[in-house]
Amino acid sequence: MTERIIIFDTTLRDGEQSPGASMNTGEKLRLATQLEKLGVDVLEAGFPAASDGDFEAVSRIAGHLKHTEVAALARTSKKDIDRAWGAIQHAAFPRIHTFIATSDIHLTYKLRMNRDEVVATAVEAVRYARSLTERVEFSAEDGSRSDRDFLCRVFEAAIAAGATTINLPDTVGYAIPQEYAELVQYVMSHTTNIHQAVLSVHCHNDLGLATANTLAAICAGARQAEVTINGIGERAGNTSLEEVVMALHTRPNYLSFTSGIKTEFIYPTSRLVSMITGIPVQPNKAIVGANAFSHEAGIHQDGVLKNPMTYEIMKPEAIGLNTNKLVLGKHSGRHALRTHLKDLGYDLSDEELQLVFTKFKELADKKKHVVDEDLEVLVTEGILQSHDVFALDYLHVTSGTTVLPMASVRILINGRPVQGAEYGNGPIDAVYKAIAGLTGTGSELLRFSINAITGGTDAQGEVTVRLRENGLEAMGRGADPDVITAGAKAYINGLNRLEYLKAHPITPME
Ligand code: KIV
Ligand code: ZN
Repeated sequence: MTERIIIFDTTLRDGEQSPGASMNTGEKLRLATQLEKLGVDVLEAGFPAASDGDFEAVSRIAGHLKHTEVAALARTSKKDIDRAWGAIQHAAFPRIHTFIATSDIHLTYKLRMNRDEVVATAVEAVRYARSLTERVEFSAEDGSRSDRDFLCRVFEAAIAAGATTINLPDTVGYAIPQEYAELVQYVMSHTTNIHQAVLSVHCHNDLGLATANTLAAICAGARQAEVTINGIGERAGNTSLEEVVMALHTRPNYLSFTSGIKTEFIYPTSRLVSMITGIPVQPNKAIVGANAFSHEAGIHQDGVLKNPMTYEIMKPEAIGLNTNKLVLGKHSGRHALRTHLKDLGYDLSDEELQLVFTKFKELADKKKHVVDEDLEVLVTEGILQSHDVFALDYLHVTSGTTVLPMASVRILINGRPVQGAEYGNGPIDAVYKAIAGLTGTGSELLRFSINAITGGTDAQGEVTVRLRENGLEAMGRGADPDVITAGAKAYINGLNRLEYLKAHPITPME
C-alpha cells in the first residue's frame, strides 16, 4: 500500500534564513496562499519571537489559510511559546514547533546545559505547548550529530509529554544517506512510544545530500519531510520540495509513497519564490532550473523529437511548465490576461488585475511578444511592490564612448517625488549614486548580476543585486527591456527590503 508523506514547507521560516532573502508581510501572505494551493500539508510561517515583523506575518497567514496547518517556531521557553501561540491561535489548524539542541557540541558550547536539563526543558516546553494546542512538534536540533541513545531518550520524553510529531534534523548538513537512514531506524526501534507520533526529517544541503538524505529517511520510516521551494534556506539551503515530490512522483515502483502536492503548481510556485526573495534559480537546478527540460546535444534532441521518453523522465507539464507558451501581445485583452495569469497560478482581484493590465500594455508597446516570465515580473512589480517606500518614477541616462556617464533620476519616497543627477564611472554607477543620494542611504553593493529572462534581443534584462547597510543584507531584483532601468529597479527593490529590515529589527538570539 502506498503511504502518504506529510509535506511540511518551511520556505517562509528556514527559507527566509537564506542570506538576504527577507520578505515583507504582503509577500509572505501571497506566497503562503500559493503554498496552500500547491497542497503543502503544513506551512511553517515563521518564528514569531524573532521580530515584530515575523509575528505580524505569521498572524496574518494563520488567519488567512483555510486547509493547511500553520506552524510557528519557538525555542523551549515559555516566552517563545506564548509568542508563537499568540500568532497562530486563530488558525484553522495551529501547530507549535518547539526545538532545543541535543548534540554534545551544542550542549557544551551553546546551551551550557547538561543532558538532564535538556530533557527537563524539552518536556516542560512540550507539555506547555500541548496545553495550548493538540498539534505540537518537537525538534532535536543537531539531531544527526547527537548521541543516539540520548536522542531516543529526549524523543521518548517529548512524546510522553504530548508531542505529536518529532523531528530529527540534520541541522548542519553532515549526514550521509545510509547513515541517516540507519539513525531513523535506530530511533524507530529504540524509542518505545515512537508510534504515538509522526517521525519527521529536516535536512540541510551543506554536502549536497539533503534530498538523498530525506528520501533515505522516508524509506527507513520517516513520514514527514521538511522542505523548501527551490531548496532555499540557511547556508547551502534545505531539502527542496520539488526534488522530493517529483522523485516520489517519477519513481512510484521504487518509492511507494505519495504526497498531497499538486505537482502542476510546482513551477509557478518556484518562480514566485524566486521573484519574491530575489534569489535566482540556478539554470541546472533539478526540476525547476531553466535547463532542466532543455536538450542541448544533437543526439538528445534527435531522440526527444522521435520520442520524448528517450531522454525525458518527467513531462514538463507535470510541474506546470508550459512548453507551448501562449504568447500575449498588445492586442490581447483583460480577459486573456486574467485567464493566462490564472494558469500561471496567480488569482488576482479586479483591482490587482487592473494594475497589472496597465503595466502589461506598457510592456507590450515595447516588446512584441509578452511571455510567462514577463507576466511574472509584472505581477511582482505591480502588486507585491506596490506598498514600497521607494519607487522609480523617471530615469534618463547618457553614456557611450565619448561622454561622461550621467544619470538624472526621479524617485517617489512614500509617494513624494524627489529628483537629482549624478556622474559616474559607468551608467550604473551614475544611477546608483543618484539613487543613494536621493534616498539618503549608504548601502554597499556586494553583488550585481544580469541575465536575459527570455531569448531574443527584445528580451527583458533581469538584474539581481545584493546590498549591505549597517550589518543588514538584502537582495533586490528588477526587470525591464532596458537593462539600466532594470538595474535601477533592482537597486530600489534592495533598498526597500533594507527599509523593511530596519523597521522590523530581529531580536538577537541568546
Ligand atoms: O535545522 C534545524 O535544526 C532547524 C530546526 C529549528 C528544526 O531548522
Ligand atoms: Zn533548519
